[in-house]
Formats: sequence, structure tokens, C-alpha cells
Amino acid sequence: MALVGALALAGCQPAVDVSRAKVDRRLPPAEEVLIPLVIDEDWRPIVPDAIQGKQVFDANCAVCHGASGDGNGPMAPTLKAPDVDVLTAFLSFFHVELQRPPLPSKPINFHNRDLENVITPAILYETVTQGRPHTAMPAFGPEASFGANKAQTLTNKERWDANAYEMTFRTTPEELSAAKQLYEGQCAECHGVSGDGKGPRGPEMAASLWSWARGEGPGIFTDINYIVQHNPSELTNVVLDGHVLMPSYRGKLTQAEIDGLVDYIYTFFYAHPPIK
Ligand code: HEC
Ligand code: HEC
Repeated sequence: MALVGALALAGCQPAVDVSRAKVDRRLPPAEEVLIPLVIDEDWRPIVPDAIQGKQVFDANCAVCHGASGDGNGPMAPTLKAPDVDVLTAFLSFFHVELQRPPLPSKPINFHNRDLENVITPAILYETVTQGRPHTAMPAFGPEASFGANKAQTLTNKERWDANAYEMTFRTTPEELSAAKQLYEGQCAECHGVSGDGKGPRGPEMAASLWSWARGEGPGIFTDINYIVQHNPSELTNVVLDGHVLMPSYRGKLTQAEIDGLVDYIYTFFYAHPPIK
């Protein structure tokens, strides 16, 4: 009788993957809920494209940043920082000039890894959108932040494209293809060949990590709004020291190999020429 009852009950259970259901009930920590950033003017997701970004860059940015991104464009030596603040702006109305002669403003060298390491793709985008106050870097978005110059407006997509192209200056096709080999040999078993967390060991990770079960968050390199808010230093630290189920590679990979892997990981979020 008890057996029949148990069988009847079991028959009534909807077929659920219990381990998965347990995982999914856990809500993400509040700080991990990110506002989508890689969107067009109508809040539709976009895929930044480094190939189209080259055209945007050559037409709008190379004059200061240089076609090769080294910061030595034809206008670079003449650039001055606009020195605008509320007080000087107010006093100039009464012809009282408090301003000192403007200081030179040097475009950033995009090949400088030490600098790029601490900047997220989101901050690059913010800089291109709002300009950088009190420097010669103008805003290409609809509004400049206070103290920044305003250039001709580019669309969200054009600014993300230019951003993606800018990220290719810090590496070379050779470095990326070496990193691809390393990634496919050592990392893809969990992270997946396309960075989506669907490698052969992906399900094992997803069984204990809610984020992997949902296909988002740390280690899911196709989660674009997550990855663009993390800088190369943060990603490097996780590769060096490991985190949760991510193994530590300290002493197993050289710094140059890790730099290459980090640059390669970012390529999952933007379109680019094929990496051999
Ligand atoms: C009129 C010259 C000028 C133009 C045009 C210009 N920039 Fe800049 N840009 C600068 C200067 C100067 C800086 C350095 C600002 C500073 O000192 O922090 C800068 C900084 C930046 C930064 C910040 C980099 C970092 O690591 O902090 C980014 C990103 C950037 N520019 C992207 C672009 C893009 C993309 C375009 C074209 C759409 C562009 N810039 C056009 C002058 C320019
Ligand atoms: C055994 C499976 C496994 C292997 C192998 C593995 N990872 Fe991970 N990795 C993970 C998991 C799981 C996470 C997420 C950890 C967490 O939740 O914080 C992760 C996270 C990361 C992150 C952090 C991303 C972020 O946004 O914070 C980076 C970067 C990373 N892995 C790179 C690599 C690289 C590079 C390799 C190869 C050298 C590699 N991983 C190999 C499982 C793995």
C-alpha cells in the first residue's frame, strides 16, 4: 500500500532537475546586477565591431590619437586643456579673467598596457561619450560632461565600435593567435571555445554556481554587460590566484601569456577579423 502511494506520488511530480532548481533559487548578490550598457539609443543590445570601429577611429580620433593609436596624431602637439569651472565661467561674464594660460593636453597612448590595465571597456565608452573634463578629449555622445569639449555626435554603436578597435592596439594578431591556442588548450574545457561557459566541464561548474547555470557573470565571457565592467587587472588577478572553482595559474603561465589570454577573452564580446 505504502509502495503504491509512493509510486502514485512520484508519478505526480513534474519532471524537474532538482540540483538545477536548487541552484536557481539563489538570487545573485545585489552588486552583480548590472545595468545594460552595450545598447543602442532604443535600449536594444548591440555587438561592438572593431572592423567598423577602424573607420570611425580613422575619421574622428586619429587626428589626435594617431592612426596607430600611439597618441601622436597631427593635432596632438597643439592640444590644450580647456580650463572651465563655475567660478571662472561666472566671472568672465563680468570680464574678470581668472584663467591662467591653458596647459598642454596629451592624448593617451593606447599601446600602454599599464594604463589600459586599470580601465574597463565601460570607462573607455564613458570617456568617448562624455569627454574627459578639463582635457582636450571631447565628448562624442549627445551631451558633454561639465568642463569637457563637445565634438560631433556619434551613435552609441559607432562609439562602441571605436572602443572595440581601440582595444586592439594593445595587442597584435600574432599575440592573439598564440593566446587562442593556449586558451583552447587550457581554458576552453570549462569556459568553452566561444567563451560562453559551455565547455565539456561547463555543466560541472553550473551545478554549483548559479551564475554559470544562468549563463552569466564571472567566467562567462559572452556576458557582455558583465565583461565590459571588468578591467584587465581584475581578470589577470583571477587567472593568477583563482576564484571559487576557477583554478590558480600563478607560476604556471608567464605574465605575457596571461596578458595575451586577457586580450583574447575580451575578443568574445566584439566582432573582429578572424584570429588564426
Ligand atoms: C581633439 C583631440 C582628440 C580627439 C579628436 C579624440 N581624443 Fe581621445 N583623448 C584626447 C586626449 C587629450 C586624451 C587624454 C585625456 C587625459 O589626459 O586624461 C584622450 C583620451 C581618450 C581616452 C581615455 C583613454 C584612457 O586610457 O584613459 C579614450 C578611450 C579616447 N580618448 C578615445 C577616443 C576616441 C574613440 C576618439 C574618437 C571617437 C577620440 N578619443 C578622439 C584627445 C582626443
Ligand atoms: C576547471 C574549470 C576552469 C578552468 C580550466 C579555467 N577556468 Fe576560468 N573560471 C572558472 C570558473 C568556474 C570561473 C568563475 C569563478 C567565480 O564564480 O568567481 C572562472 C573565472 C575566470 C575569470 C574571471 C572572470 C571575471 O569576470 O571575473 C577569468 C578571467 C578566467 N576564469 C580565465 C581563465 C583562463 C585564462 C583559463 C585558462 C588558463 C581558465 N580560466 C581556466 C573555471 C575554469
